Order: sequence, then structure tokens, then C-alpha cells
Amino acid sequence: MVNLKGKTAIITGASRGIGKAIAEKLAENGVNVVIAARSKESLDKTVDEIKKKSKVKVIGVPTDVSKLEDLKNLYNAAVKEFKTVDILINNAGVSSQYPFDKQPLEDIENLAHTNYLGYVRLIRLVIPEMIARREGAIINMVSGSTLCDPVPKTFVTYSSLKVGLRAFLKGLFWEMRDYGIKITSILPGVVDTDLTGKLQNITQEQTDRLMSTSTVVDMVMFALSVPDNACPLELAVINQQTPWTKPVIDYEQKQAK
Ligand SMILES: NC(=O)c1ccc[n+]([C@@H]2O[C@H](COP(=O)([O-])OP(=O)(O)OC[C@H]3O[C@@H](n4cnc5c(N)ncnc54)[C@H](OP(=O)(O)O)[C@@H]3O)[C@@H](O)[C@H]2O)c1
Repeated sequence: MVNLKGKTAIITGASRGIGKAIAEKLAENGVNVVIAARSKESLDKTVDEIKKKSKVKVIGVPTDVSKLEDLKNLYNAAVKEFKTVDILINNAGVSSQYPFDKQPLEDIENLAHTNYLGYVRLIRLVIPEMIARREGAIINMVSGSTLCDPVPKTFVTYSSLKVGLRAFLKGLFWEMRDYGIKITSILPGVVDTDLTGKLQNITQEQTDRLMSTSTVVDMVMFALSVPDNACPLELAVINQQTPWTKPVIDYEQKQAK
């Protein structure tokens, strides 16, 4: 998909953080964007911001990705407006940090429905039409924490669901390759967003060591810019001297210069 101009992308979790940065970049490159998040207020704000900076069509569809009906509504709204969906950026996600025995059951359910089922279901909704056209790119925000085995302490539910998602996407890569559809997993280290800001012991020290959203955007743009006959299966970019490993893996951190 070297020429992005005039294509259409759905981006979930795009009202802030990584998703918003991706939506802005795609719009800047001439892609019409359908952005989704739960809060209508912040979604509307982001739609206005992107519209001011680009000439493409931008629509916001309030969506809770943990709800199948909302996902159907999102996909239908995109097709109604643009006829086809060329790119899906599966990005909406939540995180939480608990010793497992203290993790509320509702939190476990929410993580599974948002970070795993939300991705798988939306892919299932978009692929039939991509298969019919024999074209499409599906880029998924997984997590660098899946590189840890065993998964990090206090992130057991979050990270193991991402491991499952990564395994699903790896399998799907081969199945979809036959139809010309590209499946890519992005594995970022710790990025400076609200998601990490809320987690204890992760970002309170040395926030300058967090990656910026633009680093993740660069990975997405790389995945979309390779020639048609190639596809990055997985892209991992991890912070040097990441603060993320601290509660997870012992490390000796160099003093910041
Ligand atoms: N930040 C990191 O260090 C990091 C590292 C590795 C992977 N990731 C992954 O990257 C993705 C984006 O993270 P981020 O750091 O950008 O998070 P963020 O700043 O908290 O933004 C999350 C976005 O997702 C939306 N969202 C949350 N739950 C949703 C739901 N159920 N339905 C629809 N939208 C929902 C939020 O809007 P509403 O709240 O209004 O719905 C918001 O737009 C996540 O999948 C995360 O696991 C992040």
C-alpha cells in the first residue's frame, strides 16, 4: 500500500495517545479516517483537530470495542461513508496493574473483552470485504511486554491476553497472506501516554526515558510503506533503559546524561 492517498482507515482508540497520533499522521498522508473511542466528547475534539490540519474526510464514531454491536456499528458507519475499508488500525486498549489475587473479576473481564475480543471481532468484521478485493492492511497494537516469558508480574492478565493476541495475529498472518491482506503486530515498549501515566512504579521516575507516540507512528508508517509483495509480521521497538522493566525484571539503570 505504498500510495496511501484516498485510502480509508478505521482507527480504534483514536481520541488520544497512540491512536490519535496514528490518525493524525494518516490524515496528513491523505487517508480518510474513521476514528473510534468511547467518550464522544474527546472523540469530537479530536475529529475537529484533525479536520483543521488536513483536507481528508474525518468521522468519529463513538464505540466501545468490548461490545460487538458497537463494532458492527463502527464498521457499517465506515462502509456507509467510504464504501471500503483499506486499513484497520486495531489500537483501543486498557491496562491495569494488580497482583493477580487482588485483581477485581470485572477488571479481568474488561481486559479480555477490550484488548483481545475487541481486536479479533473487528478483524472478523472487516476481512470478508478485504478478501473479496484481495487487498487490505490490518495493524494491531500488541505490546513489548509479550517479549517477556514469563509475562511480567502484576501485569499477568494484561500481558497474557496480549500474548494470546500476538499468537492469533501470527497465525492469521499466514491465513490472510493468501488473499493479499497484510497483518502486522506492533510491539511497543513504554510510550508516554495516559495509559502508562496511570500505572504505578512505571513512569513516576525518569519519564524522559519513555518513547514518544511518534516512534510508534513511524512503525505504522513503515508497515504501510513496504512494497505490495512484502509485509512486516511483527515490529518491536523497545526503550533503551526502559523504566518498564523495573517492577518486572531486575535491571541496573544507567544514570541519565
Ligand atoms: N502506552 C504504552 O506504553 C503502550 C505500550 C504497549 C502497548 N500499548 C497499547 O497501545 C494501545 C493504545 O494505548 P495508549 O497508550 O495510546 O492508551 P491511552 O492513551 O489510554 O488511549 C487509549 C485510547 O483507547 C480508547 N479506549 C479505551 N478503551 C476503549 C474501549 N473499550 N472502546 C473503545 N475505545 C477505547 C480511549 O478512549 P476512551 O477512554 O474514550 O474510550 C483512548 O482513545 C493499547 O492497546 C495499549 O495496550 C501501549
